Amino acid sequence: MNNKKQILITGASSDIGIGLIRQLMISKQYLIIGTCRNSERLIKLKDELGDFLTIEADLSIESDVNNIKEYLQKNNLSPSKFVHLAAPDFRYLRFKDSHWEDFQREINVQLKSVVFLLQAILPKMKQEKSGEIVFVLSSVVRGIPPAALGHYTSIKYALLGLMHSLVSEYRKTGIRINAISPSMIDTRFIATIPEKLIEVVTENHPLKRLATIEDVVPAIEFLLSERSSYINGENLFIDGAGA
Ligand SMILES: NC(=O)c1ccc[n+]([C@@H]2O[C@H](COP(=O)([O-])OP(=O)(O)OC[C@H]3O[C@@H](n4cnc5c(N)ncnc54)[C@H](OP(=O)(O)O)[C@@H]3O)[C@@H](O)[C@H]2O)c1
Repeated sequence: MNNKKQILITGASSDIGIGLIRQLMISKQYLIIGTCRNSERLIKLKDELGDFLTIEADLSIESDVNNIKEYLQKNNLSPSKFVHLAAPDFRYLRFKDSHWEDFQREINVQLKSVVFLLQAILPKMKQEKSGEIVFVLSSVVRGIPPAALGHYTSIKYALLGLMHSLVSEYRKTGIRINAISPSMIDTRFIATIPEKLIEVVTENHPLKRLATIEDVVPAIEFLLSERSSYINGENLFIDGAGA
């Protein structure tokens, strides 16, 4: 277990997170540390795949984020890889109907959490002269985004900005920070979107389908691996040229 590469995944209980864990567990090279709001899905996954570490934390609550940092410290864990997947439940919300709290929730779960966690894990990565970080953004950061997603789109852009500024500061340290930006993926994240709208999106897409977890997970895996060692500061669009 000690020789394994430690990988921290926020939103590990997401459909993408579970797909990624399944894939990473195959090689037996990784010690996975998965954080989520409700660990039920991850506990079931452990029964199926074998043991990995889980931390239950609501990222909208600062003390919960600090608990993750404390857990890492107490257990002498220093992840050399980090995937940031967590995002609040998806919903369309017209700007005229939105309140600051809607933006604040996205900021807390998606942006503030990652700032806090990176401040905890980057120093060790820098010392080790090695680290791979992947932010999961969205194709909303290309061109004109869909309407009624101001709260979501602004924070994905903020994460993109953070990714670029971290690269600027850390590019000589052996730490790589990249992002992926998928278009609509067939996961439970889109469960609140009316079926009719999903049909329209599918029909208008050049490939006549939504993205799948299998389209996304290999890209994350690649950006975490040595095979992408000359790729730093990139935002990879996974949208089938449909966004
Ligand atoms: N599906 C899409 O169409 C799509 C497209 C582009 C980008 N993405 C991005 O992909 C990522 C994962 O999405 P997914 O499609 O796999 O969706 P998902 O299954 O709904 O995953 C959302 C994840 O965020 C976690 N989360 C939500 N609120 C939280 C909170 N307050 N504290 C801690 N964790 C919280 C959830 O934890 P619990 O399970 O514990 O609630 C879950 O792990 C997100 O960043 C999303 O923006 C998705």
